[in-house]
Amino acid sequence: MRRKIVAGNWKMNTTIQEGELLVKQLNFLTKEISADIDVIVAPPFTHLTAISSLIKSDNSNISVAAQNCSDKESGAFTGEVSAKMLQGAGCRYVIIGHSERREYFGEINETLLKKTELALSEGLSPIYCIGERLEEREQNRHFEVVAEQIKEVLYKLRGLDMERVIVAYEPVWAIGTGKTATSDQAEEMHAYIRRVIAGKFPKLADSIPILYGGSCKPSNAKDLFSRENVDGGLIGGASLNAQDFTEIIKSF
Ligand code: 13P
Repeated sequence: MRRKIVAGNWKMNTTIQEGELLVKQLNFLTKEISADIDVIVAPPFTHLTAISSLIKSDNSNISVAAQNCSDKESGAFTGEVSAKMLQGAGCRYVIIGHSERREYFGEINETLLKKTELALSEGLSPIYCIGERLEEREQNRHFEVVAEQIKEVLYKLRGLDMERVIVAYEPVWAIGTGKTATSDQAEEMHAYIRRVIAGKFPKLADSIPILYGGSCKPSNAKDLFSRENVDGGLIGGASLNAQDFTEIIKSF
């Protein structure tokens, strides 16, 4: 039985006060959610401590993720935030390799491997994002692109570490565009991702959660989550609204 996970990636949205309000609403709305669904929120760095404390004091089951971490352990790297700092700020997870990081901040697989290793060494679970661009899908290269993103990062981990990794498939053409992958497209890719993972980690492939991300919303979550290899979602826009996010969680 794989874990079911719904994670909200807030990206660069909300002030601390707005973020706290959102989490308070979520705590209230998700009280009756089945205990076998893991709910995660990924606020901006500045909010992490405040939101972790809020969650703790409310006895909530929600966990906190960061949206990124440095590929360096510590030292003179102005503006960077280390995996150790995130751990200290109450995070259990960290998103690594989001397509916006790859695209706008030039993050490459080599850097992402370092980030993943550092996160794991600090006891954080990486939510490792992969996904093809529109032109890559149009050229029928989507499987190849995703396989490379897995092989250059996840294949280099030890099995013991790989056990703690969550994969998020986010086709770039579906992010923030309102254009969702159909549940057939998602299932086809998720099943493929699992086969690629099995190429290196045959014993683990079946238990690694694979989340779908890209314009996932209350109206399509049920269809997506009903598919065998879709273990939940990484939600952008819709995670900023407590009602919508809760509806997505309840879609399982
Ligand atoms: P949207 O749900 O806004 O398309 O964003 C998806 C995403 O990038 C989550 O990480």
